[in-house]
Amino acid sequence: EGHLHCVQRSEGGLHCPSASALLAEIADIGCDRRRGGYSRHVFDGAERELRGWFADHAARLGLDTETDRNGNVWAWWGTPGPGAVVTGSHLDSVPGGGAFDGPLGVASALTAVGALRARGGTPARPLAVVVFAEEEGGRFGVPCLGSRLLTGAIDAEAARNLRDPEGVTFAEAARAAGLDPARIGPDPEALGRIGTFVELHVEQGRGLIDLGSPVAVGSTVIAHGRWRFTFTGQGNHAGATPLSDRRDPMLPAAATVAAVRRLAAGVPDARATVGRLVPSPGGTNVIASTVDLWLDARVPGGGTQALVDDITAAARAAAADEGCALTVRQESCSDTVAFDDRLRAELGGLLGGVPELATGAGHDAAILAPHVPSAMLYVRNPTGVSHAPEEHAEPADVERGAAALTDVLEHLCR
Ligand code: GLV
Ligand code: MN
Ligand code: MN
Ligand code: MN
Repeated sequence: EGHLHCVQRSEGGLHCPSASALLAEIADIGCDRRRGGYSRHVFDGAERELRGWFADHAARLGLDTETDRNGNVWAWWGTPGPGAVVTGSHLDSVPGGGAFDGPLGVASALTAVGALRARGGTPARPLAVVVFAEEEGGRFGVPCLGSRLLTGAIDAEAARNLRDPEGVTFAEAARAAGLDPARIGPDPEALGRIGTFVELHVEQGRGLIDLGSPVAVGSTVIAHGRWRFTFTGQGNHAGATPLSDRRDPMLPAAATVAAVRRLAAGVPDARATVGRLVPSPGGTNVIASTVDLWLDARVPGGGTQALVDDITAAARAAAADEGCALTVRQESCSDTVAFDDRLRAELGGLLGGVPELATGAGHDAAILAPHVPSAMLYVRNPTGVSHAPEEHAEPADVERGAAALTDVLEHLCR
């Protein structure tokens, strides 16, 4: 394991810390004291600090950093151009998320570049580390927003008009972060440079525990989408309004939460979740006037829309029972993606036959996959928990993952 040693010490003055050491450096950035874990959202204070941390490390590795028109950050070794080998992930989190989802892929990429530099020589192709913007959709609601914009998978005007919970538009936030909102949109030049993309990510379920392996190669990402249900009733006084006079949108919202579980249970391997429910105005002694409910639905194959149609029918019936109105809006949708067969086989062989793993989590690599050969590496998560503070990877597995990524990048750069 020569490279394991090399990633753990500085050689020839080169700054080349281990991925665990890099993660330790950012452990205090974006801690959420109310929820626990981390809340790091695109262009907020914590995420900006992480962008600065990334740029500093990239500079120490001799990489040239640039931010593209959509807020994705690229750090280049060699002249940016077509055929590049690109690796990276994201630095934003879900609200109250873990330390590894996103940052593990970025830290491992920096470690891998440091290890390759220490091995000597220059890659035969340009190599870049990328940090994608708003992968979780934690601020503006659309996951993988940076990679969707890059590839043209979301309309630029629709993206500019997305609003965060405070009502700030993506265009306004981008401007405040130093971007030109008019230039937000498809970026064929940046996309055209990517010859191959590899994203390393912490595993988000029990897959690698069950397989007994520290690392896997990604096979598929299941279809996923988000829908926003808005129930509208009549805001009123909690004490002065008889039950028979109410049009309370909390009732159909609650019925919908139950229907989501019941209907999804009837579809093989379906996942459907209500993780966010916002009654407005939100007073204990106030009957809500509206309730927003966000549905996250993921069904392998093409069954997602059929499930959402059934949920919508149940929500409409519950709204009608209470005299409430309902509007449903799709916020995002992605089809099932299979990663490049040739690349999967190549990486699996190179890494000594590590297993392949399908995932129910979405990733920027799956947004890029229809456009460029893309692959993923997963690192074992001993808790099997993700999008929560309990998400974890053991330091030894983190270094195994970084070493695997180093070998993969070296191989792809030949
Ligand atoms: C992102 O992590 C998602 O799959 O929701
Ligand atoms: Mn995530
Ligand atoms: Mn992620
Ligand atoms: Mn994700």
